[in-house]
Amino acid sequence: MTPDLMEQGAKRRQALSGPATSGKTESGGREAGFSRIAQAGEVDVTHGRILYLENVNVSFDGFKAINNLSLDIAPGELRCIIGPNGAGKTTMMDIITGKTRPNSGTVFFGSTIDLLRFNEFEIAQMGIGRKFQKPTVFEQLSVFENLELALKTNKAVKSAMCFKLDSTQSDRLAQVLHTIHLAGSVNNMAGNLSHGQKQWLEIGMLLMQDPKLLLLDEPVAGMTDEETVRTAELFISLKKHHSLVVVEHDMSFIERISEKVTVLHEGSVLAEGTLAQVQNNEKVIEVYLGR
Ligand SMILES: Nc1ncnc2c1ncn2[C@@H]1O[C@H](COP(=O)(O)OP(=O)(O)O)[C@@H](O)[C@H]1O
Ligand SMILES: [Mg+2]
Repeated sequence: MTPDLMEQGAKRRQALSGPATSGKTESGGREAGFSRIAQAGEVDVTHGRILYLENVNVSFDGFKAINNLSLDIAPGELRCIIGPNGAGKTTMMDIITGKTRPNSGTVFFGSTIDLLRFNEFEIAQMGIGRKFQKPTVFEQLSVFENLELALKTNKAVKSAMCFKLDSTQSDRLAQVLHTIHLAGSVNNMAGNLSHGQKQWLEIGMLLMQDPKLLLLDEPVAGMTDEETVRTAELFISLKKHHSLVVVEHDMSFIERISEKVTVLHEGSVLAEGTLAQVQNNEKVIEVYLGR
């Protein structure tokens, strides 16, 4: 992150939280802002929402990729998002994570955090983890080292070099290893894992930060049937403690994990309901399922 972005972020936070109390200088304010953001459990879900989008619009060179999109995710929910290619599913995740700025609309994390005021780094720090389509693990490092590294990413280089896990972190690492079914491969090089195991490892790296909300873009693409089933079990075990938004085309997978399903089409919500409800929706059959 560039200094000017940090500066902007500090100003935005200060505007949100009022004048900093721990220092009159700008740097004092920035420090106070960072500790405020990094605090765990701060997201206010008392209104029953962990994520809230309303009338969001994004145009790329005049093309409306996102068109009056509204979405409401409850704490602990596992929401599936389906829809044809080009529907705007990945762009929606780009907006939530601060990668793409909408032209208009509202995007809130809980009922108090306006995500449009923050940049990608700050949003990740707040507890929104994102898994891109391709696995991006460190192939030359072991499973253990990859997970360990996930704790260090936000530390200064110097402290990262002398970094040692404390007992809470060690416990967390052991727990994550178990959750992602890689306890037996802890010393294996990540490069030697199967495609599915790499995807689990990357999810594990996100879990090391204990995110409140996880966004997963086509997580089972390229997985074997067995890996897909295991991933479904993994996601089911993650919900409640985490909220999950899962974009997938694989209907057998959606069937295993789905509660509420949202169908996106041309940048807006075409239908929402149980899988059976959206599968029987005429509009959905026409634009997506009936292809
Ligand atoms: N950075 C960009 N510049 C121009 N067009 C884009 C950009 N990102 C996405 N789009 C377009 O927006 C539409 C939605 O894309 P995307 O969100 O990737 O769809 P999905 O993930 O549902 O397949 C597509 O037509 C895509 O070509
Ligand atoms: Mg996509």
